[in-house]
Amino acid sequence: MAWEWIKTFVYLSMCVTSAVGNKQASQKKCADFNNTTWQQYRQGTKLRVQYFLFTRNNADCASLFTQDCLNQTQKHTAYFNSSLPTKVIVHGYRPLGSKPSGMSDLAKALLREEDLNVLVVDWEFVASFAYNLVVENYKEVAVQISELINKLMKHGSTLESFHFIGMSLGAHVSGFVGTQFEGKLGRITGLDPAGPMFKKAAPFDRLDSSDALFVEAIHTDSDQFGISIPVGHVDFFLNGGMDQPGCTHLDLGSMYDYVTCDHMRALSVYTSALNRSCSLTGFPCSSFEKFLAGKCITCEGPFTGTCPQIGLLKSGITVTPLLNHEKVYLLTTATAPYCAHHILVELRVSPLDKSADIQLTLITVGHPETELKLKLNKDEMVYKMVTAHPAQLCKIDSVQVKNTGARFFRQGDIQFAYICISEIPQTRGLAPLCVKNINIGRGGPWSRDFVQLWGVSRDHRSTSSLESKSFWSIILC
Ligand SMILES: *[C@@H]1O[C@H](CO)[C@@H](O)[C@H](O)[C@H]1NC(C)=O
Ligand SMILES: *[C@@H]1O[C@H](CO)[C@@H](O)[C@H](O)[C@H]1NC(C)=O
Ligand SMILES: *[C@@H]1O[C@H](CO)[C@@H](O)[C@H](O)[C@H]1NC(C)=O
Ligand SMILES: *[C@@H]1O[C@H](CO)[C@@H](O)[C@H](O)[C@H]1NC(C)=O
Ligand SMILES: *[C@@H]1O[C@H](CO)[C@@H](O)[C@H](O)[C@H]1NC(C)=O
Repeated sequence: MAWEWIKTFVYLSMCVTSAVGNKQASQKKCADFNNTTWQQYRQGTKLRVQYFLFTRNNADCASLFTQDCLNQTQKHTAYFNSSLPTKVIVHGYRPLGSKPSGMSDLAKALLREEDLNVLVVDWEFVASFAYNLVVENYKEVAVQISELINKLMKHGSTLESFHFIGMSLGAHVSGFVGTQFEGKLGRITGLDPAGPMFKKAAPFDRLDSSDALFVEAIHTDSDQFGISIPVGHVDFFLNGGMDQPGCTHLDLGSMYDYVTCDHMRALSVYTSALNRSCSLTGFPCSSFEKFLAGKCITCEGPFTGTCPQIGLLKSGITVTPLLNHEKVYLLTTATAPYCAHHILVELRVSPLDKSADIQLTLITVGHPETELKLKLNKDEMVYKMVTAHPAQLCKIDSVQVKNTGARFFRQGDIQFAYICISEIPQTRGLAPLCVKNINIGRGGPWSRDFVQLWGVSRDHRSTSSLESKSFWSIILC
């Protein structure tokens, strides 16, 4: 709890002291976020909203969005083309004197994927001071953005062609823009929508599924800066929506990066997902615990076979009637592109005299190992759990199980009727890989190697043993 307090304290004190240095003076004359200083704040500068336009002609260098951008007979680096869809990116809270990060990477990734207008909203000053003030004033930003949308519609854009992507507080700004248009915007993506003060707010006062034709949210820090309740038609909870892998170490750079690591992960995952190098698929489930316990392993049910994916795909949108506040869960890895394979481990033990501990390790050469610690109880025989592994099932080289019972309490042998692993969602024709009848003595390691033998199965009947390494069955990737 003290740690929570420290986190919050550091976060707040950033507002006052932060003066992030300019990494390099930009040579090109690209438009950039303004950064308000403490002095300017004290002089009472008013809320300012400006917009940057990125198109395929200027994906690397933003133009300040002006009337000129609408007039294609004018000489200008980038034109707003009203026959194309428009993405509007809205940043969240930012400490005084800093610029929001990751916005131009997101714009670039979107443009790589599709020919679009990308408008990045730079709202400041209200966005740069105390959180309370920010919350009170975010609606004003939304009203200003709505005025721009009205203008663009006069110019030929349709409401449905707007997709808002809002980070943190920007998610609620986007939601309030949606409210102005009675929920007829095309899509809103909330990237870890801000939590403090919004959780108890009425849907009118925060992002909600009524704000656009399709609303989705990605939750990564719901115990700190993000909201813990579902707010979209579909809500992705990454790693349970709280603590993200790779965010627990202090070597992340600045304290600010450390404190906001979980929260900002939503943005990096979304940006990375646009690359489509792998898929980030969420499984519908009523809770993270149930998901981890292997109770939600199919995409049947609400999504009729197609689980929603993070990114621009329409999955999750095509279901009619649209779902509401549907929670989907997935595990990720610690680094881009973040995709993990979900491996379901199932095992059955013979009745035990007393509880026992085991450790199960999945090994793929060239990747970090996946370790699972498991307590076996006296009265329970069947266990199921889902874990994240960086490689797919057929790339798992070996499985190790260790009877890790404490030395003093003589934990006896453990007899496994079977240990099976499979990947979810289960694909037709790929049966789980199973080993049967294993006996592992206390402290004893046991491992199985997988070999790929051109489809010939060599299942050496396992002799229960401490040292034996035996070959398992074969699947081709
Ligand atoms: C913000 O402005 C201040 C004062 O003008 C400057 O010292 C600081 O480097 C700027 N920060 C960024 C990120 O540009
Ligand atoms: C941003 O800063 C520039 C230069 O300081 C200033 O001319 C402009 O008015 C500022 N824009 C906003 C929206 O504050
Ligand atoms: C567009 O540019 C042309 C040529 O400069 C000008 O005559 C016209 O008034 C402009 N239209 C708008 C809407 O700004
Ligand atoms: C605007 O986009 C449409 C649809 O892709 C395209 O046909 C048209 O050429 C574009 N206009 C300009 C001026 O680039
Ligand atoms: C997306 O892919 C490009 C090219 O493959 C790569 O340079 C870039 O770093 C990737 N971006 C992310 C966020 O993964």
